[in-house]
Formats: sequence, structure tokens, C-alpha cells
Amino acid sequence: MINPNDAILATMLAITLLLAGCETEKSGPQDGPEMPSFDNPALAEGRSIWMGTCRACHLLGSAGAPAVTDYANWEPRLAKGMPALYKGPINGIKDEQGKYKMPPRAGNNRLANSQIRRAADYMVAAVRHLHRPAQSD
Ligand code: HEC
Repeated sequence: MINPNDAILATMLAITLLLAGCETEKSGPQDGPEMPSFDNPALAEGRSIWMGTCRACHLLGSAGAPAVTDYANWEPRLAKGMPALYKGPINGIKDEQGKYKMPPRAGNNRLANSQIRRAADYMVAAVRHLHRPAQSD
């Protein structure tokens, strides 16, 4: 019989390994860009969710994730429109071998769909902002 505590420990270990995987593949400067803040309350909420769950991979582009500063990588994704872009972080994105590159709910099961959408909205706003640093918004 599986002890429920063992199941919790196994889950925590899996999450730790996942995050460790993100850590080892850092490519850019350790600190990354300063992430912009926006007055819009939904984007402000999205920022705090993004900082907690999405930053690990998307700040520097770890684990094959598009970095917030990599506009060339984002451009074709942005062209798909937001409804299409929400699907990846909600359902997860698999590689050719069927292994998750981005896990469903970005690995954070406590997030509601609306929170994931807000985090994605924030990331898209930040990607656009970082692409045109001179423009104030
Ligand atoms: C474990 C690392 C990881 C975490 C954490 C993560 N992502 Fe991703 N994300 C990826 C990878 C890898 C891709 C690129 C997948 C591909 O297109 O091949 C990606 C792609 C995306 C895309 C583009 C999808 C598309 O259709 O092109 C969006 C939007 C996105 N992530 C949003 C988020 C949001 C929002 C969060 C936080 C709630 C998040 N990600 C957390 C790894 C991660």
C-alpha cells in the first residue's frame, strides 16, 4: 500500500527536479531583464503569478522556453493570438517524444485557468514592452 506521505514526497521531489532542470540550462545573464510593471490591475495580478510560476523558465529561456527578451522567438507565437497562446500553459506542450517541455498548468496545479491567462497576458505585454524599451505604457 502506498503511504500518502510518500506520494506527496515523490511529487515534491519531481517538482524540485523539474525546477532544477530549469536552473541548469540558463543561457543569458543570471539576473535577466528588469520585468516591467503595468497599472492595469489584471496585468499587475498576472505579473505576480508570472513571477511565482512562469519566471523560472521564461525569464532567461531555460528548458527550451522562449525568453521574455527573445522577440524573434515570440513574434510567430504572438501572431497566433491570445486564445491560442493560452492553450500551451493550460494544457502543457509536448516535444516530439511526447515528453512535456512545458507541463500542464506550468506545473502549478493551484493556478486557475483565469490566473494562467493573466500570467500569459502579462508575459505578452512584457515581451512587447521589452522589445520597445523607449515606448512608455
Ligand atoms: C518548466 C518550464 C516552463 C514553465 C514553468 C513555464 N513555461 Fe511556458 N513554455 C515552456 C516551453 C519549453 C515553451 C515552448 C514550447 C514550444 O513551443 O516548443 C513554453 C511556451 C509558452 C508559451 C507559448 C505557447 C505557444 O503556443 O507558442 C506561452 C504563452 C507560455 N509558455 C506561457 C507560460 C505561462 C503563462 C507560464 C506560467 C503560468 C509558463 N509558461 C511557465 C516552458 C515553461
